Amino acid sequence: MDEQQILAKLDRIKEIPTLPTIVFELNKHLRDPDTSIKTVCDTIEKDQAIALKILKLVNSAFYGFKSKISDLRNAVVLLGYNAVRNAIVSISVINSFPKRVKLMDFDISQFWKHSLAVAVTSKNIAQLSGKESPDNCFVGGLLHDVGKVILAQYFPNLFETVWSTLQNEHLTFYEAEQKSLPIDHAKIGAHLAAKWQLPQGLIEAIRWHHDFQPQSKSANFVQNIYLANFIINAYDLDPELRLDLSNMHPEVIKFMMNMTEDVGDWYTGLTGEIDAAYSFFLESDI
Ligand SMILES: [Fe+2]
Ligand SMILES: [Fe+2]
Repeated sequence: MDEQQILAKLDRIKEIPTLPTIVFELNKHLRDPDTSIKTVCDTIEKDQAIALKILKLVNSAFYGFKSKISDLRNAVVLLGYNAVRNAIVSISVINSFPKRVKLMDFDISQFWKHSLAVAVTSKNIAQLSGKESPDNCFVGGLLHDVGKVILAQYFPNLFETVWSTLQNEHLTFYEAEQKSLPIDHAKIGAHLAAKWQLPQGLIEAIRWHHDFQPQSKSANFVQNIYLANFIINAYDLDPELRLDLSNMHPEVIKFMMNMTEDVGDWYTGLTGEIDAAYSFFLESDI
């Protein structure tokens, strides 16, 4: 199979996860700056399960509000429209994939742990640099590797090929894909994100998270996700977080240097928030 055949097969798979219809409806309303809180709440309340999950999320340690928030309207006012939409996308995406896929050594809970760590890191990079919306960056981090789950679930033969190349030749997943497949998880993920009608920046971030393109339209946004993924991968190999800058795009090195003098120290400050994200999204029954 070549790249086009793989993507065409992906388009034909019936049981591929979709996002709940309220995400599309919310996107439509949120494009209009005059949309009222009532319209937003009414839209969310069409899906009671999601409305409940939003309340659970705002009351979780992840947001850390002191008093209990018991109605949706307050939750929307406190979080803001964009954060609410992103929370719904995050919850839906995690719930739309099976919690257990055991294929060779692919462990989906490890996968989501990595994705959440990248999500929180990327959100904090956005807060520090002030260039992008922290909530959008959270979703970008959460989704950047979604193509891997698609490979594992729907293209098990391709996944196995990558996995054995990776193990035999001591390569990273992405390097093994470049060597052994006509496609990679970044392309597959971007294809799915386009199908989900997610914003262009998000599609680009998924597409270029291993291969930063400074000239792309959403370069600032892509850069956040690329850097967060780089940091988390480096941290997994070395908790002292000595980054191998020879593998990092020079533009991103500049961006990182401007952002913080000591990435290690900065990252240590994020671990509490990462743990709170794990316990809400992975351990609680959302
Ligand atoms: Fe990746
Ligand atoms: Fe990643």
